[in-house]
Amino acid sequence: MKNILVTGGTGYIGSHTVVELLNLNYNVIIIDNLSNSKIVVLDRIEKITGKRPKFYKGDIRSKDDLRKIFNENKIDCVINFAGLKAVGESVKKPLEYYENNIYGSIVLLEEMKKNNVYNFIFSSSATVYGDPIDVPVDENSKIGGTTNPYGTTKLFIERILNDLVIAEPKFNICILRYFNPIGAHPSGLIGEDPNGIPNNLAPYITQVMVGKREKLNIFGNDYDTKDGTCIRDYIHVCDLAYGHVCAINKLEKSQGIFIYNLGTGKGSSVFDVLHAFEKAYGKPIAYAIAPRRAGDVKANYTDVTKAYNELGFKAKYDILDMARDAWNWQKNNPNGYED
Ligand code: NAD
Ligand code: UD1
Repeated sequence: MKNILVTGGTGYIGSHTVVELLNLNYNVIIIDNLSNSKIVVLDRIEKITGKRPKFYKGDIRSKDDLRKIFNENKIDCVINFAGLKAVGESVKKPLEYYENNIYGSIVLLEEMKKNNVYNFIFSSSATVYGDPIDVPVDENSKIGGTTNPYGTTKLFIERILNDLVIAEPKFNICILRYFNPIGAHPSGLIGEDPNGIPNNLAPYITQVMVGKREKLNIFGNDYDTKDGTCIRDYIHVCDLAYGHVCAINKLEKSQGIFIYNLGTGKGSSVFDVLHAFEKAYGKPIAYAIAPRRAGDVKANYTDVTKAYNELGFKAKYDILDMARDAWNWQKNNPNGYED
């Protein structure tokens, strides 16, 4: 499999995966509607890799946009990053989320079938585990109990994919459940560029570091954890990007539907993450304790055995690396891609 169609390829995880693929000499074709990313990402990718991926400004909900791509390119495998991902927004605009994420994936799968393309890698999320009873979770842990429409789109698409391979055994699918991707490419040329006030921890911290926000609000220090703050499995976005190469290799060798959690296997508290960023910064970062955030789960991190045994995937980077690279990106691009 050499020709990879990457939907949402100018986004945060997509752009890092495209770099990884180009460095390994895959041919990359991107479709992105630029609803949450900037075209300048292509220049940055070219600067890092010396190669420019073929780009189509288009929408995965558009049969015409997809037909054009499948007509003009031989595609071996599709990685579907395209989707809306803001949890809070999904609560306010559920129909938009269900339409974009679920309908978009269905149109994409239909057009793949019409064009005899059956290899598919899907960006799912640890959010499908809801509030886990036991951690670490593994791929057999109970899924469901999502607390917002965004999470539910991931759950539904996973279900659709399971039904699809039963009806259409030619489909060959890898579902990747990402834990908490943070960090940036070590070049500082690509990274996470959220719109407005960041909802997620790492981009909020780096905006405090760069002077755009006054202090980090820590959402609750009264959880039953080692320091009272929530525990997550943060994974460097470059490790995550490499996970997609492992998934392509898996689909090359096997036929069916496969599910993997991608994380480091290590749970870190909010304070652990804050301290890692303070190390990268060389000074303290202002914070205050705030009330718990609705919908937050106490702890979620993964068992990494299955991904290691079946994909050969093992994260290389720790939270100090993630903090260093996220800070390097933010420092060099205080206003993200606007600069
Ligand atoms: P992102 O918003 O940076 O990237 C998504 C890209 O898809 C954007 O460039 C956007 O413009 C594009 N897009 C959205 N809808 C589209 C459509 N209908 N047609 C074409 N392009 C479209 O998000 P990300 O953080 O890179 O996440 C990528 C995928 O991984 C998403 O599906 C997300 O739900 C999933 N995921 C992300 C995280 C995370 O923490 N970032 C965690 C788990 C899963
Ligand atoms: C959130 C989403 C999840 C989504 C994931 C994508 C919620 C409830 N969950 O997960 O569905 O898949 O992002 O990466 O939104 N924190 C603070 N202060 C902040 C921001 C975060 O203390 O300003 C804390 C949170 O309470 C949490 C931890 O930092 O304990 C991580 O938060 P975040 O980065 O938003 O990720 P998740 O909550 O794991």
